[in-house]
Amino acid sequence: MSMNHKNIQTARHVYGIDNWGASYFGISPQGSVTVQPFGGQECSLDLAEIVSRAQERNISTPLILRFPQVLQSQIGRLHNAFAEAASECDYEGAIRCVFPFKVNQRREFIDALVSSGHQFRYGLEVGTKPELFAALSYDLHSDALLVCNGFKDSSFIQLAFDAKRMGKNVVLVVEGTDELKYIIDHAEKVGFCVDIGLRAKLYAKGAGLWAKSGGAESKFGLSTVEMMESLELLRKAGLSEHLAMLHYHIGSQITEIKKVKNAMKEAGRVFAKIVKMDFGLKYLNIGGGIGVDYDGSKTSFYASANYNLQEFANDVVYIIKEVCESEGVAPPTIVSESGRAVAAYHAVLVTDVREVEQMGGDVNQLQITEQDHKSLKELKFACDEMNSKNFVEYYHDALEYRDELFTLFNLGYLELAERSKAEVLFEEVCQKALYFHSQAGVSIEEFEDLAKGRLSKYLANFSIFQSIPDSWSIEQLFPVMPLQRHDEKYSRKGVVMDITCDSDGCLDQFVDQRDVKKSLELHVPHADVPYYIGFFLVGAYQEALGNNHNLFGATNEVIVEVDPKTGQTTETDVLGEDVGEILRAMNYEDEQILSGYRKQLTRRCEEGFLAEEEKEGILRRAQSFFEEYPYLRVKTRLEIIE
Ligand SMILES: Cc1ncc(COP(=O)(O)O)c(C=O)c1O
Repeated sequence: MSMNHKNIQTARHVYGIDNWGASYFGISPQGSVTVQPFGGQECSLDLAEIVSRAQERNISTPLILRFPQVLQSQIGRLHNAFAEAASECDYEGAIRCVFPFKVNQRREFIDALVSSGHQFRYGLEVGTKPELFAALSYDLHSDALLVCNGFKDSSFIQLAFDAKRMGKNVVLVVEGTDELKYIIDHAEKVGFCVDIGLRAKLYAKGAGLWAKSGGAESKFGLSTVEMMESLELLRKAGLSEHLAMLHYHIGSQITEIKKVKNAMKEAGRVFAKIVKMDFGLKYLNIGGGIGVDYDGSKTSFYASANYNLQEFANDVVYIIKEVCESEGVAPPTIVSESGRAVAAYHAVLVTDVREVEQMGGDVNQLQITEQDHKSLKELKFACDEMNSKNFVEYYHDALEYRDELFTLFNLGYLELAERSKAEVLFEEVCQKALYFHSQAGVSIEEFEDLAKGRLSKYLANFSIFQSIPDSWSIEQLFPVMPLQRHDEKYSRKGVVMDITCDSDGCLDQFVDQRDVKKSLELHVPHADVPYYIGFFLVGAYQEALGNNHNLFGATNEVIVEVDPKTGQTTETDVLGEDVGEILRAMNYEDEQILSGYRKQLTRRCEEGFLAEEEKEGILRRAQSFFEEYPYLRVKTRLEIIE
């Protein structure tokens, strides 16, 4: 086996790409990360090459690479899994999937989803007025459902009634009895009614970070008492036939299949009992929650799931069928609102490393002279003489010398040059001690902590708060890896820092099959060659939840499609938010900013500090700054902008 091949094998193991990549991502024989948009080997694209081409078109990093064909493949996988499950157990009801708008409401994404989903009668789920308003602009398949969850007021209800008049199969899912009363009033006023759904509050709970979305204490849904009250209201209003859907959702990213099954059994019974009370229920909406295996471990760990799509579909279909048979009711149309599992894979965030920060300096350049302070000489001695037997003792000695030297500096007895030597030496002591600790075969907590603080810090050109907000807010893990050079040996262990002015903007937990990794295996970037890092499986929720902390906005994006016959790619650029757009969203008017500039510059001119032509130059630059990309420019050196 060649050295390169061996390194690539190591890379696949280190990064677990075959486990979380769901056959969409891999590593080429040249050591580059690739995408397989159709989920198989027939077509493979080099991610770094796509990014380099984008940079040539002035579409700079950070950027999202969006692969509509990956999305299409996932939509196919979801529908096929349910179709196979239905055929496997002779299920007589139908299956309809709807995509929850909130999971990724970017127009480019929904456009691709709607067109790929047409053949499957794929519908949409919305939870707010703006989501419904946007969803109504799509000409969905005539059999597709439009499910309206969330809390509603009269204008939301009016919009849903308009949707029915527009020919949509709209279902207004009721979250509370008051809401139902508004709907009944509205129906009486206009003389027709939309399909109505009831969201059940199940006892069954999900598992993982979103478990609180289910269970008796959850924020959503109707308790059994409220459910009975709602049924009575509907009956009295003569709308029993309009009760079409029973809905539940026990949380996103359900990590255990057992929880899925428990909820299904409970909901199946509720469904059957309501049907037997002579209501026209036909849909059983099982919500979302299908887990994404972010770490590839296939376990019930919070970043994974101990089942796959097919197992999920099999269990759901089999349980509904069984419950309906035992209750003697017709099997419903099963509605899935799975979002994360459909959207996660299709987007990759790519950025470039700007700097690698390391502690200390070059110890070989260091000279300790007779004139240097005694403690500095002692530190040098500890460094030179450290070995596998004395490393703990010598490390402790070094700590003492370092503290002494810093106290001396603070009291004015040392120069900056000596302080610098102390830093270099102490860092070398730490590195040596860590090496001996790693060879010792025992784990000493003190050195484990020391190792964490000694990781290289890779400063990457992006904002965690904008691009992967869940990793900050709920410590969600995503696969992260460099896009190139996996045919080489890794030479550094590092963490990733973003460019926000916030110490939370640091990624120091990474997916691993057996645990959570505290660092990534990385390379030393070559001068003047971009070192790209990719963040994978970020297509669900991240774009929707990203915020403008530090006034960083939506990133550039490239939509990549490939012709399966020729392998030819089409790359469509979508510009990210510029400075002007972000400021406008914060209520700054362009003119207000410019007049603020003008007023101050005029005063500086009047006071004689500024020439008229300098003033005009500054104003010109200010005017064009509205179009600036807020992230770091490709060239790191200061450019003089005309
Ligand atoms: C009502 C409802 N349906 C569907 C979903 C989508 O869930 P997921 O993305 O986990 O499939 C959610 C998200 O939590 C939800 O609240």
